[in-house]
Amino acid sequence: MNLPVSLDRRGPVGLITIDNPPVNALSHAVRLGICETLEAAARDDKIHAIVLICEGRTFIAGADIREFGKPLQDPWLPEVLAQLEAMDKPTVAAMHGTVLGGGLETAMCCHYRLAVPTTKLGLPEVNLGLLPGAGGTQRLPRLVGARHALDIMTSGKPIDAASACEWGLIDLVVEGDLPDAAVDYAGQLIENGAGVRRTGDRTVEPVADDFFESYRARIARRARGYQSPWRIIQCVEAAVSQPLAEGLSLERELFLQCRDSNQSAAMRHLFFAERAVARIPDVPKDTPARDIGQVAIIGAGTMGSGIALACLDAGLDVLLLDLDRKTLDKGCEGIRQGLAASVAKGRLDQASMDKSLKRLVPVDEYEALSGADLVIEAVFESMSVKEDVFTRLDSVCRPGAILATNTSTLDVDKIAAATSRPEDVIGLHFFSPANIMKLLEIVRGRETSIDVIASSTQFAKRLRKIGVLVGNCFGFVGNRMLYGYGRENQLLLLEGAAPEYIDQTLFDWGMAMGPNAVGDLAGLDVGYKIRRERTDLPDDPRFYRVADVLAGLGRFGQKTGRGMYLYKDGSRIPIPDPEVSELIRKEAESLAIGQRDIGEQEIIERCIYALVVEGAKILDGGIALRASDIDVVWANGYGFPRFRGGPMFYADTIGLKTVYDTVCRFRDSFGEQYWTPPPLLERLAKEGGTFAAMDED
Ligand code: 3HC
Ligand code: NAI
Repeated sequence: MNLPVSLDRRGPVGLITIDNPPVNALSHAVRLGICETLEAAARDDKIHAIVLICEGRTFIAGADIREFGKPLQDPWLPEVLAQLEAMDKPTVAAMHGTVLGGGLETAMCCHYRLAVPTTKLGLPEVNLGLLPGAGGTQRLPRLVGARHALDIMTSGKPIDAASACEWGLIDLVVEGDLPDAAVDYAGQLIENGAGVRRTGDRTVEPVADDFFESYRARIARRARGYQSPWRIIQCVEAAVSQPLAEGLSLERELFLQCRDSNQSAAMRHLFFAERAVARIPDVPKDTPARDIGQVAIIGAGTMGSGIALACLDAGLDVLLLDLDRKTLDKGCEGIRQGLAASVAKGRLDQASMDKSLKRLVPVDEYEALSGADLVIEAVFESMSVKEDVFTRLDSVCRPGAILATNTSTLDVDKIAAATSRPEDVIGLHFFSPANIMKLLEIVRGRETSIDVIASSTQFAKRLRKIGVLVGNCFGFVGNRMLYGYGRENQLLLLEGAAPEYIDQTLFDWGMAMGPNAVGDLAGLDVGYKIRRERTDLPDDPRFYRVADVLAGLGRFGQKTGRGMYLYKDGSRIPIPDPEVSELIRKEAESLAIGQRDIGEQEIIERCIYALVVEGAKILDGGIALRASDIDVVWANGYGFPRFRGGPMFYADTIGLKTVYDTVCRFRDSFGEQYWTPPPLLERLAKEGGTFAAMDED
């Protein structure tokens, strides 16, 4: 077998090199290769110290995630690393790139560690529903203390080389050529007779009696619903109080529980799904993209200023246009405050903020946009206003400029038809707050050209967002599905479930917020206006009835201090309002809807299966390229719990036959209008198929 690990000798130093592109993951072959080369280096009398180093863009970035769903082949990583740590000759990890997960665990089993200044080091297993399973939970606290170790492992965020050095995770930051520096360093160890230095022989600094209890309280909010952060804490408790062998045995037991859980399967699914979005069958990776240096944004309201901030953060030049001078000033001030907040949080330095502000140019006439490479329209959600804007853009923008709309629901083809160049028009649907939310729906119009799509996916990457290509229809993927979810919420209200009960149930299930709290945050007037413009709504007096009545009363939500809930003195804390309960009761009465006790399971099934039903139609209609794209949209744009993998993956874990049977039961109870099972769901349920398997075909 040709192993991706080799051993060379440079004088008295053995150089073990891993070469397993793209990220040197610890596949079975790499694990075998490490064992073999360690044995060879141990046998070779001319070798007195060993350097472990990687080819390519990074040191080992972790275990091979693709192997987790399959039976693991021997040797397992913990055994390989035990062999590494037990070496009698000093070993040195020479690191660059992203040293993650099993990669950092490997480095911690070397006796010495050095890294180039740009190296990032972390244990991100928590993002995959896992805990470090090759000694990381035991060795990291031994090197950096329990507090830093817990921060690193429960956040999953990597640290830079300078902090790693300061905290004792690495010994040295080296400049210049890494192999040379590492071999020199190993040579000095030999000369000085430094010998081996095993992390496992160290003990963890003691912690205060209430340390773990208060740490649990500290992460309670952020770790809600997730299993692995709590297990990580359990392992670190063992590291503090027990010998290495016992800590490692607990870690192994808990790691296997995590690895075999639905949570980890869901999060691993999202890991690959978020990378799969870049694969677009008719837009090959080498499709030439247009250069984007200057972006013009039309509309300085909520979305326009957020998009401007996102573009400035990415180093782009921004023209911000609004016809209303006051809004323009307010938008620019909001952007300044947004940048200042980043400085206050230490995410940005003052000089970068000043540079960003210089790259922002407010304008109040369309002629100023003639040099823009990309224009993003974020004006009112009205077709006639948007058509007017695009007609103007067509007359002032240079040939080859990309003309994008941030519409959340409207027909991109109709907007494109207002120009003489529909091939240059695309939807770039951001989510609020646009500088924070990771999702960007890229809406392909009928005539959008391939290179405009390629440019848009690159633009998403530049903004560090996940760009998902979707088709053009009302609401695209995310908002179209949201309609079904919101519809069920609204019907449940009429049928007797209180807003706070529905919200709590879905929050406890894992959603970031309940639908009624979200409605109040976004503004009940927004959906109300959109529904008034639509001509294709169901002929059903119950449809969004409560929301429409509240909006009609001027109860728009947080911005007016009352909506589905009350908000006292400008606070964002929702307070259940007896007036709303009464209003809902009366509406139900006028529609002859009997109110009843509704269980949590019904709330979850009706709201979540409504997403699955619409998702199946979207998939069948080619609006999404893959089921996993739908999951990416919901996990990154709508607060769907990552530990459930997205609505389509969740349906797979429940079993499509069970979902289908429940949908049929709903059809029989609530009527065909909303609950006719889509043909795709019916077919997969009958064949025993899954949405995930469709993606593989
Ligand atoms: N296993 C298998 N494949 C991996 C991988 C891994 N650990 N890490 C990355 N890849 C693959 C990606 O799927 C992608 O494949 P594709 O090109 O076919 O889509 C390719 O490598 C490149 O990855 P990215 O597109 O993400 O490249 P970036 O340069 O943007 O990022 C990275 C590189 C920072 C290494 C990022 O890929 C990453 O964060 N990887 C995951 C790291 C991780 O979670 N490690 C822990 C694994 S669990 C573990 O180690 C358990 C242990 O404790 C026992
Ligand atoms: P907003 O009302 O806050 O801002 C719209 C801005 O457009 C106003 O400042 C207005 O002065 C300006 N404007 C109107 N007509 C103009 C014209 N002809 N030329 C230049 N400027 C003009 O609205 P918001 O919320 O920012 O929404 C904008 C767009 O983004 C809408 O299409 C909306 O559907 C979409 N969107 C909104 C989201 C949200 O959460 N608010 C999320 C995603 C998309």
